[in-house]
Amino acid sequence: MLSVLLTLLTLLTSTRLLALHTDGHELTILFTGSTDGAIWPCESCALDPIGGLARRATEIARLRRQNPGIVLVDSGDLLSARGHVRGDRKVMQVYEHIGYDAVNVGDQEFVHGRSFFQAELSESTIPLISASLLCADTGALLASPYTIKNVENMRIGILGLVDAQAFLMLRPDNHSGIRVATITEALNRFLPEVRARSDFVIILSHLGVDGDRDLAEVIPGLGIIIGGHSGWASVEPVNINGNTIVRPGQGGEYIGRLDLRLDSAYSLESFTHSLIPLTGDIPEDPAVAAMVEDVPVWEAGSQKQVMPSTATGRLFSPSAHCGACHGDALSVWQQQKHARAFDALPPERQGNLGCLPCHASGWGQGGYIDAERTPHLSNVNCTACHVVERKHLSWPEQSAVPEVTEDNCLRCHTASRSPQFDFRTYLEQIEH
Ligand code: HEC
Ligand code: HEC
Ligand code: HEC
Ligand code: HEC
Repeated sequence: MLSVLLTLLTLLTSTRLLALHTDGHELTILFTGSTDGAIWPCESCALDPIGGLARRATEIARLRRQNPGIVLVDSGDLLSARGHVRGDRKVMQVYEHIGYDAVNVGDQEFVHGRSFFQAELSESTIPLISASLLCADTGALLASPYTIKNVENMRIGILGLVDAQAFLMLRPDNHSGIRVATITEALNRFLPEVRARSDFVIILSHLGVDGDRDLAEVIPGLGIIIGGHSGWASVEPVNINGNTIVRPGQGGEYIGRLDLRLDSAYSLESFTHSLIPLTGDIPEDPAVAAMVEDVPVWEAGSQKQVMPSTATGRLFSPSAHCGACHGDALSVWQQQKHARAFDALPPERQGNLGCLPCHASGWGQGGYIDAERTPHLSNVNCTACHVVERKHLSWPEQSAVPEVTEDNCLRCHTASRSPQFDFRTYLEQIEH
């Protein structure tokens, strides 16, 4: 009886396997992102801290031995937010050693400036992709827009996206001369091409939690979206509009894993998702451990950072961000006194809290903090007058900008500070 059952079971299993082979395909994707220059496990976490690049290397090698057809990708921000160049160079070395299939370019890849990006990151063997980043002068792409990886007779297309919002945290001079295409522009240009050349497409999206949702809402049926920029981890994948969003967390604590089942036409049938915590029982990869041993934890531990206050939720961004699309308005504004309102303050008054609400942008509202942290928000810039949603920077056509009214001027042009103020005549003087 038992043997009959066993034979039946074996038969059942083998027909299932056979069916899978002829009718469908299986694909495993491993994903990381927002490593943020973290070489070591989380420094500030109590007990058994998870993470660390040496454990990551061991775990990826183990999974690859089990399944040689794995695709390994990263959604961007491998470098630190604080810009520790020594640690960041080591992170790059480890990424080269691990051997990724595609690494999306995040804003933090410019933390040491554009010249570092071009001279070191682009010159490394890390397979950078971005359909969004262009040289402002020539329009040339800064990296390949997508890549195609052949696994088990399947062609997997991997396309990288980032948007202008992602660059808000970075000093503007770090990425000057770079134009960030809108999402519509990047997708119109490259999505049909990558779809035509591959059987299945994965999007690496450095758009942040909200940006990923917008993407999934606006474009049905993109498929798998691997999120980045905001360092949240997806305990459960988010399903919107035929799209599935997953996120690997921050500081290199996890490796994300997706096991996909595709039908014979390469459409997604089902999947399982998990986040593998890099716990202390995973041995360190000796080669990686040797590479990074001289980098101190304080330069390269997991950085659980607090973002500068955006208490009011209102966007305050450098004028240069707006100028990327509104070049004419920017040149006109640059000639006006608003663009020099901060410099008009005598040096000893530039830290004076009584002057900052009107001579800088968004002081006390989540904008200007001080000359060291937010030099790009001094002066009365575009966002001091225009109330713009973050979304406008990446999806302008999805986010209208309301008209600026007289009330807006009167916040600063008070009767005592600006006794001559008359809306009509003052408006004429700032026309742009
Ligand atoms: C990625 C390109 C892009 C960026 C960056 C951008 N805008 Fe816009 N903006 C547009 C487009 C395109 C429109 C027109 C949208 C439409 O027609 O629906 C627009 C419309 C506007 C309008 C309304 C103009 C009108 O004719 O109705 C204002 C005001 C504006 N933007 C201000 C800003 C400010 C301030 C910033 C910076 C915080 C900014 N924009 C950043 C592309 C951009
Ligand atoms: C309530 C908003 C407000 C505050 C607070 C404020 N200012 Fe002003 N300030 C203005 C406005 C508006 C103007 C332009 C007035 C005009 O031209 O009609 C101005 C003009 C000036 C100018 C003239 C610049 C020039 O080019 O002639 C100086 C200097 C100045 N402010 C210094 C200060 C100092 C110093 C403080 C802090 C002690 C301060 N302001 C606080 C709104 C303010
Ligand atoms: C001092 C306040 C102020 C500042 C600073 C300012 N604007 Fe404006 N802007 C206005 C007003 C007022 C209008 C006209 C009313 C409206 O369209 O809201 C306007 C209009 C615009 C328009 C629409 C023009 C059109 O043809 O309809 C754009 C685009 C724009 N601004 C972009 C910018 C950009 C980009 C910057 C920074 C480089 C900037 N503005 C800085 C107040 C300002
Ligand atoms: C965040 C505060 C702030 C807002 C909002 C603001 N201004 Fe101003 N404005 C200033 C300050 C400060 C100066 C003085 C700059 C200087 O002289 O260096 C100034 C100067 C000016 C000047 C130049 C005056 C001159 O003597 O040449 C004009 C014109 C002007 N503002 C118009 C406007 C209009 C119109 C609006 C509304 C659409 C507006 N401003 C909104 C702070 C502001």
